Amino acid sequence: MRILGIETSCDETAAAVVDGTGAVLSSAIATSRDAFAQSGGVIPEEAAREQVRAILPVIDRALKEANVDPRTLDAVAVTRGPGLLGSLIIGTTTARILASRWGVTLVGVHHTLGHLLSTWLHPVAEPAPAVAFPVLTLSVSGGHTDLWLKTSRTEGTLLGRTRDDAAGEAFDKGAVLLGLPYPGGPAISKTGEAGDPKRFAFPLPLKGEPGYDWSFSGLKTALRYLIRDLTEAGHDIPSLLPDLAASYEAALCRHLAEQTGKALREHPAVKEVHLVGGVSANKRLRDVMKLAAAPAPVRTPFDIRSCTDNAAMIAYAAVALLEEQPGQARAPVVVSDALALEAAGR
Ligand code: KG4
Ligand code: ZN
Repeated sequence: MRILGIETSCDETAAAVVDGTGAVLSSAIATSRDAFAQSGGVIPEEAAREQVRAILPVIDRALKEANVDPRTLDAVAVTRGPGLLGSLIIGTTTARILASRWGVTLVGVHHTLGHLLSTWLHPVAEPAPAVAFPVLTLSVSGGHTDLWLKTSRTEGTLLGRTRDDAAGEAFDKGAVLLGLPYPGGPAISKTGEAGDPKRFAFPLPLKGEPGYDWSFSGLKTALRYLIRDLTEAGHDIPSLLPDLAASYEAALCRHLAEQTGKALREHPAVKEVHLVGGVSANKRLRDVMKLAAAPAPVRTPFDIRSCTDNAAMIAYAAVALLEEQPGQARAPVVVSDALALEAAGR
């Protein structure tokens, strides 16, 4: 099998070719992220304009690197949502036109399913991971924080989710408060590397409540008040940045690990824990999750590029859908899908 994946849900334009086992034959990406470093977040209209400029060259690059004739592809997979509407429309429209011109099946993929399957991706030179179900997957990105109990690649139950901000959003908003650039996750990690994570105490949200939900907005507010109080007491904030960043990052990671650990104790049949999405690139989170999950192993995507938005995970999700949910895989992909998902708030 050879599948071309296209992912344009936010500020990245990505195309990749994977085979039926999840081997990444090529993966090309263009990003307009640098343009948003100072704005604290993505400007949707500008992101969509950059998608138009980047999409065909990026697809060309992915096909050339994988050395495939597009007419021999088994499918074109595209993110149908959720995401920024303008960006999604560029991806779905391009995918539809190319698939029909090449005479190839088009598969629409929910962005979250792509992240959930990113742990199946592997380098060409390495064997496909042998995953044992049930799997507990923590999917953490800028748009969602979800905990899934998965019984197959495409089936599972949502055990918990954030009640307000997503974990990545908490990193991004925290970075704005600390005067650090967007995206906030890597900036906070880097600044906090030399800091003391125990210097400042943060509350543990939803402590003692049943279930596995998250709530990050209180931690962000706690950071805001902490900075205000330190400033009023005459402290020099720039010199405290490493300790502030490390303590805030540790608080976010602790909240994520606590709820995942609780779910694991209450679902003892789980064989492995998967950590996916942009925030799964975080070193501290990986470390605390390993401790919280033990003795269950924690699997993360094989490289950082597979943690953040990428097209290989979308292509592999199409493989799983074609194999396990052929009806869903063959449902038509139209621009209104993106609109419908947006309207439904998903
Ligand atoms: O999955 P992703 O690339 O896009 C979405 O689907 O949202 O995730 C982006 C998010 C951003 O909020 C970014 O701050 C966060 O992932 N992120 C990180 C790290 N790298 C990216 N958060 C914490 N630590 C990181 N190293
Ligand atoms: Zn994502």
